[in-house]
Amino acid sequence: MVPTTFPDDAPPRSGSLCSRRAFVLAMTALGGAHAAPAVPDAGGLNGSLQVLHWWTSLSERRAAEVLAAGAHRSGMRWIDAAVPGGAGIGAGKVLRSRVLSGDTPDVTQLIGTALQDWADAGLLLQLDSVAAAGKWSQSLLPTVFRHVEYRGHVIAAPIGLHRVNLMFSNRRVLAEAGVQPASSWEQWSAQAEVLRRRGISPLALSSEAWQVTTLFESLLLGTGGADLYAALLVRHEPAAAADARLTEALRRLRVIKSWHVGKVTERNWTETLAAMKEGRAASTITGDWAKGELQGAGWQLGAEFDCQAAPDTESTHLYSIDTLAMLTKDYAKSPLQERLAALLVTPALQAEYNRTKGSVPVFARLDAASLDACARESWQLFSRGDGVQVPSLTHRMATDEAIKEVLMVELHRYFIDDAIAAQTVQRRLGSMFKILRRPGDGARRAGAALPWAAPG
Ligand code: BGC
Repeated sequence: MVPTTFPDDAPPRSGSLCSRRAFVLAMTALGGAHAAPAVPDAGGLNGSLQVLHWWTSLSERRAAEVLAAGAHRSGMRWIDAAVPGGAGIGAGKVLRSRVLSGDTPDVTQLIGTALQDWADAGLLLQLDSVAAAGKWSQSLLPTVFRHVEYRGHVIAAPIGLHRVNLMFSNRRVLAEAGVQPASSWEQWSAQAEVLRRRGISPLALSSEAWQVTTLFESLLLGTGGADLYAALLVRHEPAAAADARLTEALRRLRVIKSWHVGKVTERNWTETLAAMKEGRAASTITGDWAKGELQGAGWQLGAEFDCQAAPDTESTHLYSIDTLAMLTKDYAKSPLQERLAALLVTPALQAEYNRTKGSVPVFARLDAASLDACARESWQLFSRGDGVQVPSLTHRMATDEAIKEVLMVELHRYFIDDAIAAQTVQRRLGSMFKILRRPGDGARRAGAALPWAAPG
């Protein structure tokens, strides 16, 4: 739907990634967006920005409010346009249709390789001068800076880093069953029956596609390590699709499903989390947005719940970076958009926002003692660099939207239909990779470092 060519004309005065001519052409191709009329704001604020995002759970809304209040204190009105749907599945669709109908928001949550698609379409404001003034290239974690830099331009403001391979457990439920949070598959399998006998699901599950694939990422990492993960989900190597460790990861997904007490239904992530919180399930494996939600409900880490790496993934950081991008229209709001971008990448605002959200600030230096133990481990591990960092597929860090969709459909189908054999999925992935794989796959991984790219 969005044009994929990257306009190479010189950038215009106000700094989108394409010239005004290319921008107009792109917008015409998209159905012609109009600029919103400039309406003076009441209350002494000197401008409003409408922000589209998918933060709709309790803690997510509070985190968005932290940003909105920060904008307000700096004289900007944040107009919230939240779209429900975990992992931004709904928000992505709404954003596309709003741009097509000429109702482009000013700011949008866009993450991972989706940023590059929108930059290619010439629709993102360049933030080069903001980044230079804020010394982002030195102050941000290197992978985070690479993530927002595309073709020599900075295209988004990074606000938080999530760790996705985390297991959160209900301490009371585990203590009553006399078990510890599992750190290996063997330990976990051994205790699964103990929990089941008590009528408790070892793991809270939902059949919602993005929740299934978020869990699967951790299983794959646990069985195949970062190397197989990258070969399969980043570089799409046909040989990786045939690997026996992938067969085992798929088998484990089925086993976990068979552990579930009662049918696995499609429910949103806060309902999945509630199953753990209310003691119907012992644990949940997902990103640390779940930690924000538990803490927002008054649960304390180490008291009511534990946070640890998903089994067998302790030494890796499966990551998702949250970013807000500024959309170009008639450039009337560029100064305001740049001010918001600068504000978003400030330590005080990020500290408060990330504490609420469950994630960690994106700075290379910060006071680790100010973080809770789960956040501290996330930030310290990620800071060690590329060897431990693994980009999330589901959260758009690993590959482009089209391949991500195909992989998610296959994995989801396998999860819901027990008649599909693991080998069938593997054969299908292998054939798809032969067709879809392009030289350089992996180079477009968000924050790509060279070892990840497939040979050209
Ligand atoms: C986003 C998080 C969000 C989560 C659940 C992820 O893709 O990065 O900010 O909390 O989805 O919707």
